[in-house]
Amino acid sequence: MSGKYKPKYTRMAQIKTASDLTTYLKTNGVDLAFDETLLPPDESPFGRPIQLKSGKTIGNSLCILPMEGWDGTLDGKPTDFTRKRWLKFAESGAKLLFGCEAVAVCHEGKANPNQLVINADTIGELTKLRLLILDKHREQFGRTDDLVIGLQLTHSGRFCKPNSHKKFESQILYSHPYLNQKFGMNAEYPTLTDEDIDGIIQKYVDAAVLAQQAGFDFVDIKHCHGYLGHEFLSAVNRAGNYGGSFENRTRFLQTIVAGIRQSAPGLEMGIRLSAFDLLPFKKGLNDVGEPELTDAYPYAFGGQQTGLDIDLNEPKAFLDLAQSLGIQLICITGGSPYYNPHLMRPALFPPSDGYLPPEDPLLGVKRQIDVTSELKKAFPALVIIGSGYSYLQEWLPNVAQYVLRNGMADSVGFGRMVLSYPTMPADMIAGRSLVRNHICRTFSDCTTAPRNGLVSGCYPLDPLYKKLPEAEQLKAIKESL
Ligand SMILES: Cc1cc2nc3c(=O)[nH]c(=O)nc-3n(C[C@H](O)[C@H](O)[C@H](O)COP(=O)(O)O)c2cc1C
Repeated sequence: MSGKYKPKYTRMAQIKTASDLTTYLKTNGVDLAFDETLLPPDESPFGRPIQLKSGKTIGNSLCILPMEGWDGTLDGKPTDFTRKRWLKFAESGAKLLFGCEAVAVCHEGKANPNQLVINADTIGELTKLRLLILDKHREQFGRTDDLVIGLQLTHSGRFCKPNSHKKFESQILYSHPYLNQKFGMNAEYPTLTDEDIDGIIQKYVDAAVLAQQAGFDFVDIKHCHGYLGHEFLSAVNRAGNYGGSFENRTRFLQTIVAGIRQSAPGLEMGIRLSAFDLLPFKKGLNDVGEPELTDAYPYAFGGQQTGLDIDLNEPKAFLDLAQSLGIQLICITGGSPYYNPHLMRPALFPPSDGYLPPEDPLLGVKRQIDVTSELKKAFPALVIIGSGYSYLQEWLPNVAQYVLRNGMADSVGFGRMVLSYPTMPADMIAGRSLVRNHICRTFSDCTTAPRNGLVSGCYPLDPLYKKLPEAEQLKAIKESL
């Protein structure tokens, strides 16, 4: 949105004391619990290790969420921008890197022309990226045996843009009443055949074999944000082997897991799951987001049939299945950045393809915390990571401490915050005061930039991006909106 936009909600930076926050939450009907004071490092849950069934230990309870930068080469290899971002993950002090960033299992499955790809030609570079993390982390924290690094494997499905930032080359599982139209497909746009899907599954297995050779501790079989894995879960009206019943809709996961067990024995797996979804949102009156109008909406996995509320019955069945397949690491997120971004990335300032917040962003934070907590309660043996905390800003540690102390998640994930303030986890663990001028203020430039074909990064706060010519371009784009 334009630079002239005046947010309707109080900025978090203006909430100075715990009592101000309590008053704000009460006045605005946000039932979000937090600890008023932070515990000293030896009592804090931030430094609590997590023991995995594999025998490996995650050294603390903070996690870096996968964050891509739209900055790879056109043949899917990392650039200096990519390396600098991965170094941030390494110096964060978080001991779990849940996937690092989305890496496509094939060229056609890329979400943008600059997404990383995993194949025989790129694996050498991906191996070096992991070693870069290990060296930096060892230099900062003295050890890496308690650092667990995953690689997120993706196929972008409906949101494939492998060759041009401006052109979707979607690979869809079913015709969607709103999303086909919104992303330029008519109702007859062809869907992937079961044989196409079998081929994509093989690409995941091949990718996992390479990831294991590169030394990654696990692969994340991504099931979130509207990408292919997630779309299977809502393919309720698809015929054939991969749609309709719950069993068919999870066959993609089951077949990939079986293939990986056979071809890459010993490799751990995790899943990033959009555990809830709602209707697609659009710009309504005064550019404020509002849901599409409909009587029935069967396509929200983890949503009621109205598409307006959450229903965790199927996500629970999914986690039950994941557990029975021997998967322990689950990272919870929700919705999709393409059709209801406020669910996954609560923000005061929307990206250029978004809408003004339809609710206090703190309600978005709370929704993810509540869903994560309910799933953790139902699956105590799973290691469950929460997302969507960056909007809390100064108050992130206080809410995170409450969540971890009360067993509402095993680990707290950092997304946008790691781009502006990479060492926030290390500061929290050491009990240091936060560096206020590094705190992410959710301006969404990290999304507006790539939506307009520019590399992603923290343009407002990271000196690397502030100085780029792209910063001027971004300013001009925002002013033109
Ligand atoms: C610039 C950017 C890149 C992202 N890249 C990925 C990605 O590659 N894979 C993924 O699962 N989520 C991705 N996400 C979502 C984040 O991992 C995270 O869920 C989201 O930002 C909410 O967490 P936060 O409040 O800490 O930012 C991305 C988000 C942003 C803003």
